[in-house]
Amino acid sequence: MLSKERILGALAQVIDPELGRSIVELGMVRDLQFDEDGRVSFTLALTIPTCPLRDKIAADARAALTVLQGVTEVSITMGTMTEEERKAVFAKGTPNLPRLNQFNHIKRIIAVMSGKGGVGKSSVTALLAVALTRQGQRVGVLDADITGPSIPKLFALPAGGLRASEQGFLPAVTPGGIRVVSINLLLRDEGVAVIWRGPMISGAIRQFWNDALWGKLDYLLVDLPPGTSDAALSVLQEIPVNDVILVTTPQSLSAMVVRKAVSMIQQLKVPILGVVENMGYYRCPDTGNPHYIFGSSHAGELAAAAGAPILATLPIDPQIAALCDAGRVEEAHLTEIDELVEKILVNV
Ligand SMILES: Nc1ncnc2c1ncn2[C@@H]1O[C@H](COP(=O)(O)OP(=O)(O)OP(=O)(O)O)[C@@H](O)[C@H]1O
Ligand SMILES: [Mg+2]
Repeated sequence: MLSKERILGALAQVIDPELGRSIVELGMVRDLQFDEDGRVSFTLALTIPTCPLRDKIAADARAALTVLQGVTEVSITMGTMTEEERKAVFAKGTPNLPRLNQFNHIKRIIAVMSGKGGVGKSSVTALLAVALTRQGQRVGVLDADITGPSIPKLFALPAGGLRASEQGFLPAVTPGGIRVVSINLLLRDEGVAVIWRGPMISGAIRQFWNDALWGKLDYLLVDLPPGTSDAALSVLQEIPVNDVILVTTPQSLSAMVVRKAVSMIQQLKVPILGVVENMGYYRCPDTGNPHYIFGSSHAGELAAAAGAPILATLPIDPQIAALCDAGRVEEAHLTEIDELVEKILVNV
């Protein structure tokens, strides 16, 4: 016979990996009901609604009940604790904590890089993240630009938005569900400059990689600082990057700078997925004719040097710039980015 005690006994075996305690002890199991046909239902109240481990905890709870004799159906409604309850849970401490990153399952890591600054790496990274999410992909963005982080601003994520504990970080989550880790989310005041030397920057990137709880991701996009700095090197050496996308603009060709970036990527044996030419032209709103404001394209030369294709040429779009500036990148639509996403989905 099913009983409340037997059901709770089974659910008590389910451990919240972040807190290291049973979900029953944590008061996460609520509104428990069951009937004589063996149908069990309850609400699973998590500490935060966007908990990257929510699927794992729910699956563990379901598995624990399914093996219980007499259970025919399990229905779990996801809920969230109140702020008071959440504080009380964390105030109790968190014994025998596992490292959170063991719960990460990341299918593909793509780094976005350029030889030069200001060509639109961060914008392209954010637009790609948004477009991939619209295609139903689970996406995270690691802002590896430690001294000039701009990803949080594009998504209007406030400073202090990362939750950190001894076990690691929980990324901030955008309204569209993109998980974001950036140094600016750790700082109390985002206006404070991070003045660090190379080794510290590398250490921060390593920590972001090792300690973030991304959960399950289809794509992790890494926004790099410009050039071939220590940060870029750290990312390519320490993070198992699957592909690099090179961003360039027509005016940014400095053969040496570009060759340096390509040479660094090639020496580190990371495949280059292709080249994205940003701000390639401006389409006149009246006539629809393209105007090559920054001169003719050099993307072909870069692609040849990289031995990779040109994946997209993006127009100068004042509306995109305005949405990015206003922290509303999730509202942006750019056909060329959608086409780029199609290529990425087919390729990787
Ligand atoms: N296609 C575009 N159309 C109009 N404006 C753009 C476009 N792409 C980027 N911008 C604007 O150009 C500026 C620089 O872009 P962004 O910050 O993405 O470049 P970046 O390469 O990441 O720079 P940094 O090297 O400093 O990290 C931003 O103000 C952005 O809004
Ligand atoms: Mg940038």
